[in-house]
Amino acid sequence: MNAIDAAPRQPASPTPAAPSTPAEPTTPLAPITRPEAPAEGTRIGAVVYFSSASGNTARFIAGCALPAEGIAVYRIPLRPAEGALEVREPYVIVVPTYGGGDVAKALPPQVRRFLNDRANRRFLRGVIASGNTNFGDAYCAAGDIIARRCHVPFLYGFELTGTPEDRRAVRVGLRDFFRSAQTESKRQGTT
Ligand SMILES: Cc1cc2nc3c(=O)[nH]c(=O)nc-3n(C[C@H](O)[C@H](O)[C@H](O)COP(=O)(O)O)c2cc1C
Repeated sequence: MNAIDAAPRQPASPTPAAPSTPAEPTTPLAPITRPEAPAEGTRIGAVVYFSSASGNTARFIAGCALPAEGIAVYRIPLRPAEGALEVREPYVIVVPTYGGGDVAKALPPQVRRFLNDRANRRFLRGVIASGNTNFGDAYCAAGDIIARRCHVPFLYGFELTGTPEDRRAVRVGLRDFFRSAQTESKRQGTT
């Protein structure tokens, strides 16, 4: 699985509304290893998401009620001062697109940093992306980049906070995705 940085690199973006990345803290911080919302009952998998200050993706994730399906939810922090997220279990990443129409800039820097950690990348199993159809060909382009660079399936795309049908499709789709992955690893004797 390739490092995400092998994708075209982002020049410093002048776009004011894109999620900003303040300077790295000077003292190392303890990594974040706990989910924002743990799985309820039997754990079948995990979702890792990023959402900027506008919070559309956070609202979408909350509306999917994933913990009730046995899916833990981790959030990639907005600011480096919060520490780096480390995930050591299989997960699907949910990511908004932030290129302002430029596909090469579509990946939020926070997501790029998370996936540049080889140990995090090892557990990535798929990608769900969001965007705004006003951006034309760059709609949900963050999902295309991750799928291509990390060799994982692009499972679903939705607009802004998604519709009730999007939330249902993602909840049911992720449940089935993780259950069939568990069945497959049992069949291969890897669990
Ligand atoms: C500065 C900026 C650039 C954006 N660029 C794109 C884009 O290139 N393609 C796209 O599909 N959506 C784009 N969007 C739309 C966001 O992906 C969408 O608003 C998303 O829901 C934001 O999620 P968040 O509120 O969780 O951060 C952009 C939004 C902003 C504010």
